[in-house]
Amino acid sequence: MATLKVTVKISPHAIVEQKTDSIAFFVEQDFDIQEMSAVSKAFFPALSHAMSKQKFSGKALSSLVVPGSSGDKVTDLIFVGLGKKNKQGVIDPEIYRKALGAAARIVEARKGRSLSVQLPKASLFGFNEYELSKQTTITLQMALYHFDEFITDEDRKIKDLKEVDYVINGGAHEEVQKGIDDGNIIALSVNTCRYWIDLPPEQLTPIDIAHNAEKIGKGHGLKTTIFNEKEIIAMGMGGLAAVSRGSERDAHLVIMEYEGKKGAPTIGFVGKGITFDSGGLSIKPAASMETMKEDMSGAAAVIAAMLALAKLKPEINIVALTPLSENLPSGKATKPGDIARFYNGKTAEIKNTDAEGRLILADALSYAVKHYKLDALIDLATLTGACAYALGPHFTGLMSQHDEFTQRVCQAAEKSGDKVWRLPLPDEYKAAIKSPVADICNIGSPKYMAGAVTAALFLQNFVDKVPWVHLDIAGTAYDVPDISYYRDGATGVGVRLLIELAMNWK
Ligand code: BES
Ligand code: ZN
Ligand code: ZN
Repeated sequence: MATLKVTVKISPHAIVEQKTDSIAFFVEQDFDIQEMSAVSKAFFPALSHAMSKQKFSGKALSSLVVPGSSGDKVTDLIFVGLGKKNKQGVIDPEIYRKALGAAARIVEARKGRSLSVQLPKASLFGFNEYELSKQTTITLQMALYHFDEFITDEDRKIKDLKEVDYVINGGAHEEVQKGIDDGNIIALSVNTCRYWIDLPPEQLTPIDIAHNAEKIGKGHGLKTTIFNEKEIIAMGMGGLAAVSRGSERDAHLVIMEYEGKKGAPTIGFVGKGITFDSGGLSIKPAASMETMKEDMSGAAAVIAAMLALAKLKPEINIVALTPLSENLPSGKATKPGDIARFYNGKTAEIKNTDAEGRLILADALSYAVKHYKLDALIDLATLTGACAYALGPHFTGLMSQHDEFTQRVCQAAEKSGDKVWRLPLPDEYKAAIKSPVADICNIGSPKYMAGAVTAALFLQNFVDKVPWVHLDIAGTAYDVPDISYYRDGATGVGVRLLIELAMNWK
């Protein structure tokens, strides 16, 4: 598990009394410099001159740092611009998240150990005080995450910020504190998800993920069931078994159950858990394999979300399933031309062993819809390079034929910051995955191209009539550029979205 780097609390003091070694301000474009007069007087009398000299007007994500002092204490004054309000009269919360990330990076570069944040007005972003505090906390904690446990040179390690103090104006103390508490719970889950993904593939194998899930289940009262490979084969999960066959390690299927309220709706979460994807016998080129430890990002997101939800306790029920396996070539490995029979009885020709995600998901989805009365089912998978090419690193691909559930997921995506973009899922393209020798084929005919869509159509064979949304996170799970609160490596995409979805189900 990851740990949170920083303690966040509400400062009992006004902004001009802050003793931290940095203070961050978030300002609208063309803000009134008069608003800064107390700060200027207390820390840096020439502030307005410095701002005009640097032409700092608060443009979105522009920043200015000036060294302030009060008595014998020096403090960096960090100003980050939020830009102008949009047509809806608010500032996009994602700009605020990126501004927070930018401030965190500035503090890091200047080796700050304590930071005061003048919380901006919640209404600027269309938030209430709770939401503002929660978003601020999640984003700062995400920005501070780093994976350096295998680096031995102390000089290369990032010196952690230890303390963040929120300076608030007015009486929303309780809401802000609740925002900090919930924000920390969510951030711990996001960063734990990132930590699992960032671990090398030898340090996080299928059984390791299963053990992590078991530990979370035990610690938080979630019923957790783990099936091993023998049981998986005996149950008829021929997709998961076929993918795991080339590996020395056992496949596992983990099922975690959260009961928030008897009789309330039940949602299913399913996450792809390939701890390393070599492609199998349809082996990947070396460069494409380099980051394939990320191929368990869906499973990590689902289990990490359960960790937060077990603490936040929404009044719904959730069942999370993660099929876990390695995808490796060997003398025992599944071969192109083999046919798998899945848990729901359907069969597929395996033409390409690198299209393994859909094979393990087929069994997990079939199991979910057979054993639980689900009101909705959502899966997260680093499923196709095609999706990453179509949408790039900032949008997760959403595919579904269920508009109402899609609407909910889109709202959760928008609110949480895990952005999605819907791709079509047309019945016409089902022809792409026909097979002459089995019910379906695990790769689409090249004539149809649309690899993300044909993969989703494959999965659709295993969800019966349950309202289902598929999220392809191949482009968004790892090494995402330009988002200041991420770093190279895992993003934890999907965790915030799943938590938001569950907390607002009603
Ligand atoms: N795990 C990969 C998809 C992937 C690609 C994830 C890039 C993250 C980044 C998946 O198992 C895969 O190899 N898909 C193939 C499917 C093809 C053989 C139909 C792909 O996308 O090339
Ligand atoms: Zn693959
Ligand atoms: Zn894969």
